[in-house]
Amino acid sequence: MELPVIDLAPYLEKSAKCSREVGEKKLDDPNLQKLCEEVSRTLAQTGALLVKDPRCSAQDNDRFIDMMEKYFQRPPQFKRLQERPHLHYQVGVTPEGVEVPRSLVDEEIQGKLRAMPKEFQPSTPMGPDPKWRYMWRVGPRPSNTRFQVSHLHFILNIKMVLLLSLTVMELNAEPVIPEGFPEWKDTMDSWGYKMISAIEAVAEMAAIGFGLPKDAFTSLMKQGPHLLAPTGSDLQRYGQEGTVFAGYHYDLNFLTIHGRSRFPGLNIWLRNGQKMEVKVPIGCLLIQTGKQIEWLTAGDCIAGMHEVVVTNRTTDAIKLALQQDRSLWRVSSTLFAHIASDAVLKPLGHFAGSPIASNYPPICAGEFVEQELAVINLKGNKGEL
Ligand SMILES: [Fe+2]
Repeated sequence: MELPVIDLAPYLEKSAKCSREVGEKKLDDPNLQKLCEEVSRTLAQTGALLVKDPRCSAQDNDRFIDMMEKYFQRPPQFKRLQERPHLHYQVGVTPEGVEVPRSLVDEEIQGKLRAMPKEFQPSTPMGPDPKWRYMWRVGPRPSNTRFQVSHLHFILNIKMVLLLSLTVMELNAEPVIPEGFPEWKDTMDSWGYKMISAIEAVAEMAAIGFGLPKDAFTSLMKQGPHLLAPTGSDLQRYGQEGTVFAGYHYDLNFLTIHGRSRFPGLNIWLRNGQKMEVKVPIGCLLIQTGKQIEWLTAGDCIAGMHEVVVTNRTTDAIKLALQQDRSLWRVSSTLFAHIASDAVLKPLGHFAGSPIASNYPPICAGEFVEQELAVINLKGNKGEL
C-alpha cells in the first residue's frame, strides 16, 4: 500500500476566495469535498498523510536541512553550549542518549509488541535514542495560561520527566541561537511557520472530511505550544542496519509534520496493524496523527505508532552520500503542532455520540500532556532505567 499524495493547492485557492465561511461543514465543490474526505479517511486508516503544499518548496526543505546538517556536524562540545537541561530541554539542544522510547520502559507496550505477528514487530531499542534534537518554539504563546510550566515535550525524555516537579516558566525560556549561524532565526521561523500553515490547511480539510465545522481543529490550535524539533542522527557512527534512532512510540501532540529526510528509515503502523515503510516523494511533506486528534475524534483517528530505524534503504542512501561527499547526518525537519494548553480536549461534534466517547473524557490539553508524562514517569521509575 502506498500513501496517496494530497495536493493542497485547490483547497488553498478555494479558501483564499471564501475565508469568511469559518463554520462551514460541507464544501459546495464536490471534488474538493471528496479530497477532504480522502484526507480524513487516510489519516484514520494509516495515521499518516503525504501532502504537497505550493507554499513550501523542496528548496525550503533543503535550506532548512542544510543549516541543520551544518549545525549537527559541529563537535559535541560546541552543541552542548546550546543545552538547557535546567529548562527541561524545552529550548536549545538535547544531546543523544537523553530521549527514551516508551517501548523501553513500558511493560504493557512490551507485552503488546510480543503479541504482534513477527513481520510487523518493531525493532527493539537497546537503550536511549542515539539522536540529537533541537527545540525551537514557533508562533505566539498565550499571555495568560494555567499551564505556564513547560510540559510540552511529549517525546519520552526520562531526565525531563523526573524533573517534572520543578517549575520552569516556559514563557521566560529565551530561544537559543548557536554562535556562527546568522541565518538561524530566519531559517527556523520561516520553516516553522510554513509547517504550521500546511498543518492548518490539513486540519481544516480533515475537519470537513470528518463532518465537523472546518475550524473545529484550527480554532483549538491558536496559541498552541507548537514546537519545531528537528533531529540529527550521526550515520557515520550509527549507520549499521538495525540501529534504532527513535524507538516505537506515538506522539502526544495533535499532528506532526516533516519535510523529506535525505535518509529514509521511518516505519509506521497502519490501523490494521500492518507495518509500512514510508517513502516521501521529493517536494512533499509527511503528516502523522498524534494522541490529541485521537481524543478529539473519539478514536476514529488514532495516534499513529512509528519508529525510525536504519534499513537497507538507509544504508543505500549512506553509500550514495559517501560517493557524493555529502553529510552523513540524518536530519528530520519535524514540527509538532499542539492543541492550545488551555483548550479542552474532548470528542467533537458527532464524535461525542461515539460508543467509546467515554474513553476520551474532557481534559485540558495541558493537563493531558502532564498526565501522559506522569504515567511514563511511574513506569520509568519501575523499569530498568
Ligand atoms: Fe514521533
